[in-house]
Order: sequence, then C-alpha cells, then structure tokens
Amino acid sequence: MARSSDFVPALGWRSLTPLYDGTVRLLTRERRWRGAFLAQISTGAGETILDVGCGTGSLAILMKRAAPQARVVGLDPDPEILARAQAKAEAAGVEIEWRRGFARDAASLDLQVDKAVSSLVFHQVPTAEKRAGIAAMIDAVRPGGEVHIADFARQRRWLMRTLFSVVGLVDGRANTRPNALGALEDILGGTDPLAGEANGRFATPLGEISLFSLHKGSDDAALAVT
Ligand SMILES: C[S@@+](CC[C@H](N)C(=O)[O-])C[C@H]1O[C@@H](n2cnc3c(N)ncnc32)[C@H](O)[C@@H]1O
Repeated sequence: MARSSDFVPALGWRSLTPLYDGTVRLLTRERRWRGAFLAQISTGAGETILDVGCGTGSLAILMKRAAPQARVVGLDPDPEILARAQAKAEAAGVEIEWRRGFARDAASLDLQVDKAVSSLVFHQVPTAEKRAGIAAMIDAVRPGGEVHIADFARQRRWLMRTLFSVVGLVDGRANTRPNALGALEDILGGTDPLAGEANGRFATPLGEISLFSLHKGSDDAALAVT
C-alpha cells in the first residue's frame, strides 16, 4: 500500500496539488508536448493503456477521448490526486479506471497491457524507482506492446539546465539531477539503443521535455533493465 511519505506529490508539496494543472499548462507549454506525446502513443480502439503516475488524469482523459473504445487505467500512489483525476474524468464524461500504486507495481495489476505510458513522473522519483518503474512498465506490456515516456530527461544546454534546476527545488535535487545528466537515456538505452534516443524534444520554461518510446518484441529478455 502506498504511503504519502513514500512519494513526492505532483508539485512537490501536498498543499500545492490544487495548482498542478494550471502550473503545468503555463510553465511547460503543455499543449505542444502533450499533443506530440498523444500522437506518439496513437491510442487504438481495442487497446488497454496503463498511465503510470497518472496524476490529475490529463493524459488519461486525452487518450480516452482519442479512442473511446480503449480501456484506460490510471495508476498513482497519491489518493488525493486520484480523487481529483476521477472527478475530472467524470466532468469530462469519460470512463477511466483508477488504481493506487507505484510505477514499480505496474506489472502486478493483473492487466493485459498493450501500451504503458508515463508523463512527468520519473524526474521526481529516486534512481532505484526510475529503474524499477521502467522495468515494471516493460514487464507490464504484452510482447509486441509499447512503452512511451515523456519527461524532463538530459538537459543538453546551459539555459535548460538552469531552468530545470528550479524543478529540483520542488521535487528534490537527488531525484531531478540524475535525469538532467541523462539517467532516462541510460536506462532506456540499456534495454534497446533506439529507446534511449528521444523522438522529440520541447524547450519549456522549466527545462527540456523529451519523448521516448520502446517497442517490446517477443524476446522479453532483450528488453530487461540492467
Ligand atoms: C508531476 S506529476 C505528473 C502527473 C501526470 N502524469 C501528468 O502528466 O500531468 C507526478 C505524479 O507522479 C506520482 N508519483 C510520485 N512518485 C511515484 C512513483 N514512485 N510511482 C508512480 N507515480 C508516482 C505523483 O503522485 C504525481 O501524481
């Protein structure tokens, strides 16, 4: 069972959670990167999609709207944000399933997952959880399925590194710094060199957001996180 002391809330402090959607909309130029991420995921009608660290459900709702016949499941350790996500989905008139748990729990949900996706989560978790969470996402999807991740990854330029250091003040430098130095590229690239190459990068007022994808073949072992 997830305890609140075990995770960093969406905006670093629990009291700031009500400001999350507005902050992300403005400070990450959300429409640009989220639109590109949605297109990358390309949700299909009969698919089961697992949104890891779903937060307030913004991505889950967009995926369900894009493919109303898809089964969309949101996973997050924070019960407060799951309640917000549920209310938001109800207001949007879409049906999404919500589960409480960590990224590392992704493979033990008893789901046949076609695509495991995650946005803005791995920059705010400890390195061990980055590895365990990504490994669980890969384990969760069926052979032939896909993993898609959007997050602050390697900050390639001085300006982006400087802007992203502000996120470190909120989410903890011990969590954010490895991402700025390329931890996501290393973890994903360790499973498949192509997966470690960003498909797209978006400069934002909080640093650069990168999009990654990984296609799981029938040879599971080749995609193990090492
Ligand atoms: C910055 S928010 C991103 C929310 C959403 N994915 C989005 O794109 O707006 C990060 C979310 O990750 C969740 N989280 C924190 N630690 C986690 C972990 N170890 N596994 C899964 N989710 C986690 C938080 O509760 C929060 O909802």
